[in-house]
Amino acid sequence: MGRSSPFKVEALKGKVALITGGASGIGFEIATQFGLHGAAVALMGRRSHVLQAAVEALRSQGIQAIGLEGDVRRQADAARVLEATVKRFRKLDILINGAAGNFLASPEDLSPNGFRTVIDIDTVGTYTMCHESLKYLKAGGLGKAPSEGGLILNISATLHYTAAWYQINVSAAKAAVDSITRGLALEWGTDYDIRVNGIAPGPIAATPGMRKLAPEEMKSRIRDDIPLFKLGDKWDIAMAAIYMASDAGKYINGATLIVDGGLWLSHPRIIPKEEVKQLSRLVETKSRKDPVGMPPKSKL
Ligand code: COA
Repeated sequence: MGRSSPFKVEALKGKVALITGGASGIGFEIATQFGLHGAAVALMGRRSHVLQAAVEALRSQGIQAIGLEGDVRRQADAARVLEATVKRFRKLDILINGAAGNFLASPEDLSPNGFRTVIDIDTVGTYTMCHESLKYLKAGGLGKAPSEGGLILNISATLHYTAAWYQINVSAAKAAVDSITRGLALEWGTDYDIRVNGIAPGPIAATPGMRKLAPEEMKSRIRDDIPLFKLGDKWDIAMAAIYMASDAGKYINGATLIVDGGLWLSHPRIIPKEEVKQLSRLVETKSRKDPVGMPPKSKL
């Protein structure tokens, strides 16, 4: 049994969400939690057996769910999947762009095509899904009242806030995703009552991303660098997504919420805390007694 939710079970009642990459990892946890909070969910993914297993697992919990095969890199797939979602559930309120590609490679070993492949999935795929979903998501879109707006939630990362080893393609892709989030929040918030936000997860336990990017023996090293000294759970990301998608987030637009335990801020502590206390007092006392290099008071 997972951890119980602090949100009301009807927080997303009546909402319809399409989640790309929704059949596994973080996407699947978002689908599960959205379903448990009253939403109907459509999952988009490339592997039919994975989709099938995910849909069965959701339905066994009483969640309305469908799985639709498709690749976000193909515009025709995007259009078909969106159409099928609306045909089944009569409208679309929320699009979550969770589909992503990733692998570790140093730039000298990463061909332009390897760079492009991740940009195509993460960035162009996100844009394509947004573009194709506009007619459904907008206020008064197919099956919706003129006052019913929509939400796009882009799953991003924190790699590009500074720089990340061996992930130059993903860093570039997610930087562009954040830019799409802000650009669409501005334009589609204004014109169509669509809020556009993001979530930037840090290292999240038991995800395909962690399995690919952080072998078991690296996990304790990563933990040591996180101010909270623990990896995140998929649940943490799903709760952030419910916050953004429920009424609680109705005034949030253009924001990417970082859910990483503070990891992106982390630097090694170069002086122990006790040493700082003593050293700092010493320096201050000394400089009051002997203000070397300080200009005379009259000139201050
Ligand atoms: N190191 C270096 N280059 C790599 C690579 C690696 N580990 N994996 C793929 N590439 C390069 C390929 O060599 C190829 O470039 P080339 O034509 O110049 O040789 C290019 O990337 C495309 O590879 P291909 O295998 O055809 O791509 P794909 O579309 O089948 O797969 C991936 C896309 C590579 C991103 C694949 O890992 C994927 O689809 N992953 C989805 C799931 C995932 O990554 N989840 C984690 C999310 S955080």
